[in-house]
Amino acid sequence: MTLLVIGSQRIDEFATAARALKPPFEVREWPDAGNIADVTYALAWGPPPGALATLPNLKLIVSVGAGVDGLLKDPTLPNVPLARYVDPDLSHRMAEYVASQVLWHQRRMPDLVAQQERKIWNYVREPAAKDVRVGVMGLGEMGGASLRALQNFGYQLRGWSRTPRTIAGVTCYHGTTGLEAFLAGTDILVCVLPLTPDTRGILNRELFRKLSISGRHERLPGPVIINAGRGGLQVEADIVAAIKSGELFGASLDVFETEPLPPSSPLWSLPRVIVTPHLAAESTAPSIAAYCLRQIDRHRRGMPIENQVDRARGY
Ligand code: GLV
Repeated sequence: MTLLVIGSQRIDEFATAARALKPPFEVREWPDAGNIADVTYALAWGPPPGALATLPNLKLIVSVGAGVDGLLKDPTLPNVPLARYVDPDLSHRMAEYVASQVLWHQRRMPDLVAQQERKIWNYVREPAAKDVRVGVMGLGEMGGASLRALQNFGYQLRGWSRTPRTIAGVTCYHGTTGLEAFLAGTDILVCVLPLTPDTRGILNRELFRKLSISGRHERLPGPVIINAGRGGLQVEADIVAAIKSGELFGASLDVFETEPLPPSSPLWSLPRVIVTPHLAAESTAPSIAAYCLRQIDRHRRGMPIENQVDRARGY
């Protein structure tokens, strides 16, 4: 029985944290897998495609990421239970990111910072939170925590998800049929959806055109999008075109089609576009290691693992 920590970054950090919890088995670090026949569990963060398939006795995979699209795109991924990472620390950080960006745009900070750079003292009209409608796409752990954080400020909240959900104080829409009505009443669109074949490219120009433009003068001069899910959810050429044409007033993007975002991307320098390097929700190595060991323990006792990925659904 051995746990292999495998992936492209922070491997030693996760392995050290797992060893510190003194599990009753060995913890190895890729690529030093030793005798691969020993490896029964994997803690994975962007492993090279095909690598997990080389482990003949693998029983369980725990994903370091909340999003498992990177693992599922490997056609050789062994068909063993896969747990995605869900943790209050992670959702809390996502809520901080979302709230910070919603406030940033609502309080017109991009324009105020641009004025400061040019030493301009000019009044900028800022809508009140109660007049701004924030719509969150994705009502799982991340979306739920983000909505709770936003509730304190008094925004008008709405949510959209694949299947019906009920959240107190939030007007919920679902499915393809609910999408247009959801968008038509949204001033600031927050996307924390998982990346699946159904959601790929969902943030495109056609969708931006369905966002609210009515009543824009009491609210914001135009719609804003915030994507903290996955880069594959957005069509970046469409965001650039929509910002340039004014169909979108601003954007905060933490994730990109290609990461790191290439220096040649126009997104770096468009007005009111905030670019951050995929850090909206990160968790600490001790929390991730503890979560991983808990899933292994459950698996060993024959209990169901938590947050098991439904591969057909894609998350
Ligand atoms: C980060 O993007 C994650 O999936 O946790």
